[in-house]
Amino acid sequence: MTYDIATIPGDGIGRTVVDATLPVLRAAGDAYGFEIDVTEHDWGTERYRERGAMMPDDALEQLAPRDAILLGAVGHPDVPDHVTLHGLLLPIRKSFNQYVCKRPTVLYEGVESPLRGYEGGDIDFVVYRENTEGEYADVGGREHEGFDNDVAIQSALFTREGVERIVRQAFQAASERRGHLTNVTKSNAQAYGMVLWDDVVEEVATEFPDVTVERLLVDAASMDLVRRPEAFDVIVASNLFGDILTDIGAVVSGSMGLAPSANINPEGEYPSLFEPVHGSAPDIVGREIANPLATVLSGAMLLEDLGETAAAAGVRDAVRSQLADPDAPRTPDLGGEASTFAVARDVERRL
Ligand code: NAD
Ligand code: IPM
Ligand code: MN
Repeated sequence: MTYDIATIPGDGIGRTVVDATLPVLRAAGDAYGFEIDVTEHDWGTERYRERGAMMPDDALEQLAPRDAILLGAVGHPDVPDHVTLHGLLLPIRKSFNQYVCKRPTVLYEGVESPLRGYEGGDIDFVVYRENTEGEYADVGGREHEGFDNDVAIQSALFTREGVERIVRQAFQAASERRGHLTNVTKSNAQAYGMVLWDDVVEEVATEFPDVTVERLLVDAASMDLVRRPEAFDVIVASNLFGDILTDIGAVVSGSMGLAPSANINPEGEYPSLFEPVHGSAPDIVGREIANPLATVLSGAMLLEDLGETAAAAGVRDAVRSQLADPDAPRTPDLGGEASTFAVARDVERRL
């Protein structure tokens, strides 16, 4: 079996972490009996500067026939982020209807949480983030820019269909995990979209009588992710809230460099896209010290999506074994001195 994978290394540390991850995926293929055929796309800020666009006009047509997409990161300090992100990552998530953004958060054995008293295994939850609408809807405008009467309108868009499909996926996941779902909204202040969201959660809950549902406002949820992260199993949240909560989740479970993410089109009409939660990290770029494990674990999610369940588990086990080994190489975010590539090669060796 050969899988056709598109890569978009992108900007900053994106290239380093993708380059480090591909050999791990190839080694998984050798160990579990499949091949990956990689087509790399040099899309990103450098292309934008040279040719005025982050990706070519037919980018989506090029990606559509692939089995999956692996992305590094997008964003460069010299170009405004709304230009680069609206030119590359966000249109792929929306056009390919990748409405499930799945972000597991695990505190692994051997990893130190900044939270006192937490050990490996104590934190284990997954965020189901709505990924195509909500606060990220491209609805609004700017008038009189640069003048005293400068005005901007930025609207959030919540559709029943859009909310229902992510909520149902989250309930399904909860029913297959520990049976607990936390619905995070802000319906005390945002009385339209967030109230529609809560209504839909109540309706879908009737289909899953075995799942207990907890409701938290996003401010309290942020507090509880620090105060009692062990209490979470599945969190379902809107696009913006899911974005913010997953950075908190990444850091309480040890590092931004360990948090994977999958942008999934569950119906398989389009390829899904796998990427770390983190960005292009301009503060550490060019030093080969970025932790590759967030991207390696995103690669494991990619293998899972292809149906290579055993290989996905193999990659996760290799990462788990490395993190639990006090003598294994670690990047500086985890207190070590090893390079990106030394860490990735060590994972490959453990496969
Ligand atoms: P960031 O995630 O890039 O960095 C936040 C902090 O985490 C930095 O201190 C960084 O050094 C550290 N960090 C991130 N990844 C790491 C890794 N693999 N190993 C070790 N440390 C790591 O967030 P930011 O600084 O807010 O954003 C930088 C740029 O990335 C911006 O242009 C932003 O828009 C973009 N961004 C892109 C994506 C994406 O492409 N999916 C995600 C987030 C941010
Ligand atoms: C993420 C990122 C993106 C998001 C940005 C870069 C647009 O922060 O994937 O978490 O907000 O979705
Ligand atoms: Mn984010």
